[in-house]
Amino acid sequence: MEYGSLVKEIFAQRETPPLCHVRSYGCQQNVNDGERIAGLLCELGCAVTDDITLADVIILNTCAVRESAEMRVYGNIGELKHLKEQNPSLIIGLCGCMAQEPQTAERIRASYRYVDIIFGTFALKELPRLLYETLTRKGLAVDISERENECPEDIPLVRTDSFKAGVSIMYGCNNFCSYCIVPYVRGRERSRVPERILDEIGELSRNGCKEIMLLGQNVNSYGKGTKENLNFPELLRRIDRTEGDFRVRFMSPHPKDATKELFDVMAQSRKLCRSIHLPLQSGSDRILKAMNRGYTAEKYLDIVNYARSVMPGLSVTTDIIVGFPGETEADFEQTLGIMKSVKFDNIFSFIYSPRKGTKAALMDDPVTYGEKAERMNRLLGLQREITTESYKRFLGRELFVLFDSTYKDGSVCGKSDENINVLVKNDELLIGTMRRVRVTETKGWAVIGEVLP
Ligand code: SAH
Ligand code: SF4
Ligand code: F3S
Repeated sequence: MEYGSLVKEIFAQRETPPLCHVRSYGCQQNVNDGERIAGLLCELGCAVTDDITLADVIILNTCAVRESAEMRVYGNIGELKHLKEQNPSLIIGLCGCMAQEPQTAERIRASYRYVDIIFGTFALKELPRLLYETLTRKGLAVDISERENECPEDIPLVRTDSFKAGVSIMYGCNNFCSYCIVPYVRGRERSRVPERILDEIGELSRNGCKEIMLLGQNVNSYGKGTKENLNFPELLRRIDRTEGDFRVRFMSPHPKDATKELFDVMAQSRKLCRSIHLPLQSGSDRILKAMNRGYTAEKYLDIVNYARSVMPGLSVTTDIIVGFPGETEADFEQTLGIMKSVKFDNIFSFIYSPRKGTKAALMDDPVTYGEKAERMNRLLGLQREITTESYKRFLGRELFVLFDSTYKDGSVCGKSDENINVLVKNDELLIGTMRRVRVTETKGWAVIGEVLP
């Protein structure tokens, strides 16, 4: 009998279905994997709970991109010990990018003996087998083997929201930026076949989904190795022709692969949002080279200028690493310089975190953490000024907003096509709807507006 059926049989012997709780720590692709893991568990007879203390199966779906992400996971595993003491039949699993690192299983074996399952990013489909092993014998069940070309198809998803959804189009990364762990824990690039992507999007659209985020570590190298050799702009053209009233974003494109064709397709499309997240990382050519990014600051500026020439008013956001090994004050000032030229709508900035096994972890890093933190503060201060100034262009304008959450002051919050946070007066019925909003005020990290009839 298949492992899935065996596990189902065991779960079915219980009076009530076992409750599962999946917690994702990482990027949107990690969250998307988490939705698949919840889907698998439901297929095996579990029901989802938001309350971790009620769960019979807890899966921590981890991220390894920075040390802080890993520390958070270890902290949370520590907190689960008392739940396991209260409920010895509780199953605790660890998966995702950090689970894929060999040192994680060693540390778990040595210090967290109450964890039952560890499975890596290639082993989603092995979960039924690992559960069966755990349910039928004691000891840690581990699968962190790498499976080339593995795209996790045919796994149902339990999606967090019905009105917006992530759709993975490719997995893995071949770029080996010198600071980054992702290529080591996610393996080589592989793309899903276009038909499967279009089917998934078609179904989401028929179910009323209003926003689709195409996901991959380097979405614009999509298609290499697929039968048709279809490239990312062509995939976007086909998605744009899909029936339905939804908008499309993607994350993340890599500047070295951002072609004019990509921006031309965006400009001509009906469904693609007028915003792009284009990770810069640094404004210094010396540092970009040491990072192995494959472009210069000037090339990056050319790309943004071209994109804005075909899409005036395009909103651009980025990722920046502060304090890469050997970054001097002059290098850092070049980053500030490019921020002033591009005027990003928003940035996601991180202090460099050494990752074991990467090239950068072996580089000399004479700048102290204190100095890096001080650079980070200056960078954030500058961005605050830029955002405040740049959001003024929205005053009086109409934006299309998909409302998705409530804010702590009771307002309802959503994102515009430009990926700008928009707040309006409390009306919870707005959540999950796409509305036209006129902007009346700006608020630093957001704009405030009124819903138009
Ligand atoms: N594939 C995406 C990035 C994935 S990781 C891309 O290439 O854009 C998301 C962001 O985390 C990166 O853009 C980078 O800014 C940051 N990051 C990655 N590794 C890091 C490290 N070792 N230390 C600090 N930040 C890092
Ligand atoms: Fe990491 Fe670079 Fe790949 Fe992005 S492109 S995942 S930063 S190696
Ligand atoms: Fe983290 Fe893995 Fe995503 S390392 S950022 S969860 S690909």
